Amino acid sequence: MIELIQAADDSGARLQAHLADEKDTETLGSALATVLSPGLQIWLEGNLGMGKTTLTRGVLRGLGHEGKVKSPTYTLIEPYVVSRLDLYHFDFYRFNSPDEYLDAGLDEYFAGEGVCMVEWPDKAAPYLPPPDLEVRLSPAAGGRRAEIFGHTEAGLRCANEMNKALEGAPRASAPD
Ligand SMILES: Nc1ncnc2c1ncn2[C@@H]1O[C@H](COP(=O)(O)OP(=O)(O)OP(=O)(O)O)[C@@H](O)[C@H]1O
Ligand SMILES: [Mg+2]
Repeated sequence: MIELIQAADDSGARLQAHLADEKDTETLGSALATVLSPGLQIWLEGNLGMGKTTLTRGVLRGLGHEGKVKSPTYTLIEPYVVSRLDLYHFDFYRFNSPDEYLDAGLDEYFAGEGVCMVEWPDKAAPYLPPPDLEVRLSPAAGGRRAEIFGHTEAGLRCANEMNKALEGAPRASAPD
């Protein structure tokens, strides 16, 4: 079960949680699905195998997508049209240089009303619109630590609403 960790500054701008297993990561994604708005830019950060694709699968399940969710590692983008909105899932891991983003011709996706979820955004960072929401995943006690930061008004609203959506989850104090 997802365990919310009280942020030290308690600003509400940040959500921290412990995700014990893959199911928790999907559940966090489903909670994110309930607070999405069109055009939201979401950066998914964390090393190889930290659960970025798993979280995106949770978002898509939450939006009602029942089909497969493939990692876009080779295709760069997997587009989804779901009931409420378009969602574009990107993975730029394979870029050797950010300039490869320019050759890929993806600008249109980032300019529209679709929600963009980007794995390995740092590999194309100079060319991407700045994120509204940043999700960082790291290893913690056999599972994962998730930290979510809102960088814009829309992103802050999402982080706060996710906190509310997960309010029933158990809480722990942040370790020093
Ligand atoms: N909270 C969790 N605790 C333990 N394992 C998890 C958790 N969340 C996801 N996993 C597992 O981590 C593995 C990698 O997940 P995933 O493919 O989503 O990572 P990724 O961050 O997208 O990796 P990549 O950078 O290679 O695309 C999967 O086997 C998944 O089941
Ligand atoms: Mg992935």
